[in-house]
Amino acid sequence: MNSDPHPPVCDYEGSTYQTEFWEKGGRDYEDRAEAVALKRLLPSRGDLLLELGAGAGRNTTRYEGYQRVVLLDYSTTQLQQARARLGNSPRYIYVAADVYRLPFVDGLFDGATLIRVLHHLADGQAALQQIRQVMRPGGTFILEFANKQNVKAIARYLLRRQPWNPFSPEPIEFVELNYNFHPATTRTWLQQTGFAIQRQLTVSHFRIWMLKRLLPTGLLVSLDSLAQLTGNWWQFSPSVFVRTQAVGNTPVASPGAFFKCPSCGRATLTEEPSRMVCQECQTAWPVQDGIYNFKQPLPL
Ligand SMILES: C[S@@+](CC[C@H](N)C(=O)[O-])C[C@H]1O[C@@H](n2cnc3c(N)ncnc32)[C@H](O)[C@@H]1O
Repeated sequence: MNSDPHPPVCDYEGSTYQTEFWEKGGRDYEDRAEAVALKRLLPSRGDLLLELGAGAGRNTTRYEGYQRVVLLDYSTTQLQQARARLGNSPRYIYVAADVYRLPFVDGLFDGATLIRVLHHLADGQAALQQIRQVMRPGGTFILEFANKQNVKAIARYLLRRQPWNPFSPEPIEFVELNYNFHPATTRTWLQQTGFAIQRQLTVSHFRIWMLKRLLPTGLLVSLDSLAQLTGNWWQFSPSVFVRTQAVGNTPVASPGAFFKCPSCGRATLTEEPSRMVCQECQTAWPVQDGIYNFKQPLPL
């Protein structure tokens, strides 16, 4: 386990990820396959959902059963894009923060998602612990992770075109701050941090350039939708979605409590025009363009 108290962050500040990767990147199939998986896994109703690593809000409207959604991302420019897309609705709260230092009181959320983010985390277990802490017992947490034990990696390994073993339990960092995980390891991490696994779906089975060119996207999505249903039995797709439930006798947030100060950990923040100030340690955090920013405090 990585014991770095400040694990490195894969910084998306200024990134054109949403337009380049999704909109111009020919990934309609993957996007729609993920929508099918989320629809299957999300509860029909909920109160407050934390979308961790929300990016430009690609998935946010899929959480329609929840009354409010907190979009959290390390990148303020990703959140600005999300805000431009989703608008200034009271349903959405935008928070710039590090997944390893969540600025919320314990037991606040009854839902959380981490989609296409774990693969950037050098210390996935530390992030899962943070997430569990801010969740109410009984809450639903949906995790997506990049699966090292996928068919393409297995074929490449057997043909000796890839040095790393897709069956071994440790994460593989194939590019700096880009990891693939073994499903069994991910399940162990979830269970160790207080999440009971309820359902697994394997996703994006047909993420093959040639297939995507030759076959209609709708057909591939329908085939993927069927193949997803085998996810509890085996996991050989590049992406896996897991629905879990927060278990254990942990606290529930008091009514009205919401943010806590990432510096001192106290829930003593008061909102002033354009900043949040901690009454305990006097640290001030900027609020700009509708985004609560807990990355860097304001100078004293
Ligand atoms: C690949 S994008 C996925 C965005 C979105 N979940 C989606 O599926 O479209 C990864 C996102 O995770 C965010 N991220 C990475 N490391 C983070 C961290 N330590 N804390 C908060 N956000 C992080 C990045 O800023 C980026 O927006």
